[in-house]
Amino acid sequence: MEIKNICVVGGGRMGRQIALNAAIYGYGAAVYDVAPAVLEDVQKWAQEYLAGRVTKGRMTQEQVDAIQRRFRVEADLAKACEGADCVIEAVVEIEDVKHKLFQQLDGIVGKDVILCTNSSFMVSSLFAQDVSNPSRLCNMHFYNPALVMKFVEIVQGPHCSDETAKAAYDFCVNTGKKPIWQKKEIPGFAGNFLIAGLTERAHYLVQNGYCTFQDVDIAMEEGFHHPMGPFRLNDLTGVNLSFDMMQAQYKATGKKPDMYDVYEDLVKRGRFGRSVGHGFYDYE
Ligand SMILES: NC(=O)c1ccc[n+]([C@@H]2O[C@H](COP(=O)([O-])OP(=O)(O)OC[C@H]3O[C@@H](n4cnc5c(N)ncnc54)[C@H](O)[C@@H]3O)[C@@H](O)[C@H]2O)c1
Repeated sequence: MEIKNICVVGGGRMGRQIALNAAIYGYGAAVYDVAPAVLEDVQKWAQEYLAGRVTKGRMTQEQVDAIQRRFRVEADLAKACEGADCVIEAVVEIEDVKHKLFQQLDGIVGKDVILCTNSSFMVSSLFAQDVSNPSRLCNMHFYNPALVMKFVEIVQGPHCSDETAKAAYDFCVNTGKKPIWQKKEIPGFAGNFLIAGLTERAHYLVQNGYCTFQDVDIAMEEGFHHPMGPFRLNDLTGVNLSFDMMQAQYKATGKKPDMYDVYEDLVKRGRFGRSVGHGFYDYE
């Protein structure tokens, strides 16, 4: 089992970078998104990014031409999946949306096509009942920005075969990543499971008036040499994404998470983070 072509569903912050990174490393990569405006933006963004690599002398024009031949956007999901041996889901972090998408994909792709979710917290066994061959389903969790960050988690649930997990792992290695292969599922996987503990405490400190969010960032950046404190990191990963997860947690536990109202207010005001120039902080 070997991956040669991928399709990425969801062309937002993560999906576009996962797809372009694969194309840079020689894989065919298609991107599909429900929003046509996002697809237009993906096309423009990829062209600008690649042109910048040529200007900086990091790629030749010939290399860029070859990458562009391997990279495409498609406004039709079935067309986007044509020829793909692996489909990576990178749509919004809302469980129902992902269930519906996996059911839809199951009717489109062959039973031997590997299906991956890039969800930040949801284990793939949540979606095992949505597909007819769950042995082909696993987590392939990239970190933001996916063009740069080398860490990827392949998480093998009890439904997933060794061959699937190995093919997914090899794909990551072949696209310049340093993956880990987790053989047991835990929500958030190794990375986000660890960082969730820190974020929860950061929220507790601010919610209960011990310090400001800026103080928390200073503590982690200056005291522990984290490149970004939890709130600056939130601006990078998306305040809206964190709020999606808070809403799911509230619904599941009935207990409002600390700083829920602050996140809700930021999202209502469109302060999604660095991608829009405003989040907890303002950016140039
Ligand atoms: N942002 C991060 O730092 C980060 C890191 C790792 C993993 N993730 C995960 O990646 C996924 C995407 O996150 P993001 O930050 O790129 O979100 P995003 O909001 O930037 O992009 C999501 C995209 O999905 C599209 N979409 C929604 N429903 C769709 C559907 N049914 N079919 C096709 N497209 C659909 C939206 O139009 C949007 O363009 C989430 O599951 C998230 O948890 C995010």
